[in-house]
Amino acid sequence: MILSETKIVAIKDSRGSQTLEAHITAHEGDSKEISVVASVPAGKSTGIHEVKSLSPALAFEQFEKIKRNIIGVNFHDQQEFDALLIALDGSLDKHVLGGNLILVLSEGFARAFAATRDLGLNQYLHQLLGSKHKIPDRFPRPLFNIINGGAHVTIPSDWDKKFGVSKSLDIQEFQVVPATDDFALGLSVGKEFYSKLGYELGKIYGAENVILGDEAGYVCPFKTNEEALEIIQELINRYLYPLKIGLDAAASQFHNDADDSYMIEGAERTPEELTMLYYDLAHAYELISLEDPFNEEAFDDFAGLQEKIPKTILITDDLTTTNPERLSKAISKKSANAILIKPNQIGTITETIDVISMAYENGWKTIVSHRSGETKDDFIADLAVGVGAWGLKSGAPATEYRMAKYSRALDLWQKINPSGPF
Ligand code: PGA
Ligand code: ZN
Repeated sequence: MILSETKIVAIKDSRGSQTLEAHITAHEGDSKEISVVASVPAGKSTGIHEVKSLSPALAFEQFEKIKRNIIGVNFHDQQEFDALLIALDGSLDKHVLGGNLILVLSEGFARAFAATRDLGLNQYLHQLLGSKHKIPDRFPRPLFNIINGGAHVTIPSDWDKKFGVSKSLDIQEFQVVPATDDFALGLSVGKEFYSKLGYELGKIYGAENVILGDEAGYVCPFKTNEEALEIIQELINRYLYPLKIGLDAAASQFHNDADDSYMIEGAERTPEELTMLYYDLAHAYELISLEDPFNEEAFDDFAGLQEKIPKTILITDDLTTTNPERLSKAISKKSANAILIKPNQIGTITETIDVISMAYENGWKTIVSHRSGETKDDFIADLAVGVGAWGLKSGAPATEYRMAKYSRALDLWQKINPSGPF
């Protein structure tokens, strides 16, 4: 495939920050030209082992330098294109070209390559992984982040005086996960639960004190993590919703490197004490999943917890950063049994597929994830479906940015499972 024209522009993400969007025109042999667009997200609770991003201004400069290596050249496959970007960058953390510039080109290439072959993006990504590993025959479950905490929240300044609450909850994400394989049903249950929860929170805290965090989950003047968990659990029980509870602690955010302790709810805890706290939560709320319970270097603490709560899917995010060396270490240490996949943590689609392949090779599950600063690009929905991920994490079932991914997954679900006359 030959890229005849490629342009990079800056657009605003869901936080109003600038990010990159690629506009690519390409053709295969004598076939007609196709045009695609791709854009990339940005995290806030980023892991230190993620690839580095450049500001749009610097990314434009870098793109000008490499343009001639890309435009007008005939690329035979994704790997060849991605390998060129990696070589042009030449660094380990992709700080030269920027992980964001590399990924927006890599995703744009994938979309264009699929289109020139009349393949759905999910089918194309399925083929890329299929050439390396057998793909699980499953459709991803949505992980709805319905209450936001941690770095994804700005607490209103008057809440300290009004409620004695000056900081967000330590746990970053309180999620509900449908207990059904039917994606369409799971999405509608998730949406209904989200709106019921909003109403319920309004009754408890006053509608004016129910605001939204970065991922469209609710933020209220909660004092403790359990206060939020109790409200979710009670609502599930009251209406018998087929939903399970999941958490992303994003614990690097409340870890103290100096003495390897965790400051949670105003108390300092050792890794052992935190392990017991998670053990209690996992049993009290029958947690289906738990992400990043410890700091991003705590391979052994993850492993200790994994042994204690075998029924909970333990997910690594900042620990592994979609990076093959980090995943390999986590596998050998038996740190967890599932990895979060964020393409912008590693920078190319080829490397993302390689990490997924390594996870499957070792019996791990994958959960494909958005970032807290998102665009309306729905690439990750195709990725999650294409690679048979266990889960798709795209925030609350609300706002255009989060819904773009769930809606695309719903389209793909309906193609596979036509619902009949109604
Ligand atoms: P981030 O958060 O996109 O701000 O890094 C998401 C997550 O921790 O899973
Ligand atoms: Zn996370």
